[in-house]
Amino acid sequence: MKKGQALEVAREYGTPTYLYDISIIQKQISSFKKAFEDYPLHIRYAMKSNSNINILKLMLRNGLGLDTVSIPEIKIGMLAGFIPEQIVFTPNMVGFQEIIDAVEMGVQINIENLSNLKKFGERYGSEKSCCIRLNPDIVTESEKDKVEKWHSQSKFGISLSQIDELLEIVEKYSMSIDGIHIHSSHVIMSPEVFLKGAKIIFELAENFPNLEYVDFGGGIKVAHQSNEKVIDIMDLGKALKPLYKALCLKMKREIQLWFEPGRFLVGESGYLLVQAKVLKTNGTIDFVGVDSGFSHLIRPMFYNAFHEIENLSNPEGEQEKYNIVGNLCEIDNFAVDRTLNEVREGDFLAIHNAGAYGFCMSSQYNSRFRPAEVLIVDSKPHLIRKREVLEDFIRNQVDIEL
Ligand code: LLP
Repeated sequence: MKKGQALEVAREYGTPTYLYDISIIQKQISSFKKAFEDYPLHIRYAMKSNSNINILKLMLRNGLGLDTVSIPEIKIGMLAGFIPEQIVFTPNMVGFQEIIDAVEMGVQINIENLSNLKKFGERYGSEKSCCIRLNPDIVTESEKDKVEKWHSQSKFGISLSQIDELLEIVEKYSMSIDGIHIHSSHVIMSPEVFLKGAKIIFELAENFPNLEYVDFGGGIKVAHQSNEKVIDIMDLGKALKPLYKALCLKMKREIQLWFEPGRFLVGESGYLLVQAKVLKTNGTIDFVGVDSGFSHLIRPMFYNAFHEIENLSNPEGEQEKYNIVGNLCEIDNFAVDRTLNEVREGDFLAIHNAGAYGFCMSSQYNSRFRPAEVLIVDSKPHLIRKREVLEDFIRNQVDIEL
């Protein structure tokens, strides 16, 4: 997106505002399709990453399905025009009633624990098929120290050590398993690790004669810094080919290939536009205080995520080092020790890579309005969500007589 346009949007719509560029989403969709063009590919967009109804409609228009994790997500998806057959329900640790509700809505079900699998078998037997989510327990060597502890505590998926039990349940209730699924943010780091996961689930495929698809979830990273190494999905497409062919041969039919990307499709399309409101120093650190905070974009504080920040209104200014901070009444950093063009009070800044897990993770903490959202379509900005107003804070509060 052009800098000048982001600046115009900040001035016209005010700040803080989430700005998305449809052409970047389109480009990401195309490169995903290109990487797997020789496969029977089905992309289920993980709407948890950005659920604005216009983004959902864009996915629908591009022939994508939806990955949902709650009943309201299914309903929002249907409001956007998706039909149940295009939606998969991939919840985590939910009561069985949610699964019944989703079955009644006609969507594809993904089950990730033995308790619900057993209940599904008892209730539906062979009548309704479902997909199972496995936890293949693979981590990259380089990430080992960092994620191994986290990994061993993972609450996602059915462990490979429980496969026998899983197969017993499937057999006992004559269940029809039509999909096998894995998702781990650490799986799709390199083609080698990805293939390790693929091998594991492809080997298990024979146990499921009704298998129609394998689903590799999401978790494909995008670069947040120019020097950051991320996987090239064209390489993934190529690397998977021989294994995939062998799977289809073994199963004697074409098995669909599913993915559920979120951040890959929308992450880079989005910016959080903010305005520098106050400059302040404590003697050693120069702070830039902006009109937003972790209530609007939680990723830097919550995950220590790096988001590039650009000074839109003083692009030629001298490079200076700052802590870019929010206005919430507690530690609230967007960036620490960050070099950017000199920031003056009133300058507009763009926080990059905010299209995924930005607005959808925002809150009203400190009673601050959630931002507006603007979408650039054919080079023109369109307001796609109004900025909140005072009524939004009190709408559901019940004022009782005290
Ligand atoms: N499929 C499943 C089953 C998932 O759990 C997720 C994300 C996705 C697909 C999409 O993953 P993606 O392609 O977007 O990485 N709030 C965090 C990310 C949490 C992801 C949870 N699951 C963040 O801001 O990084």
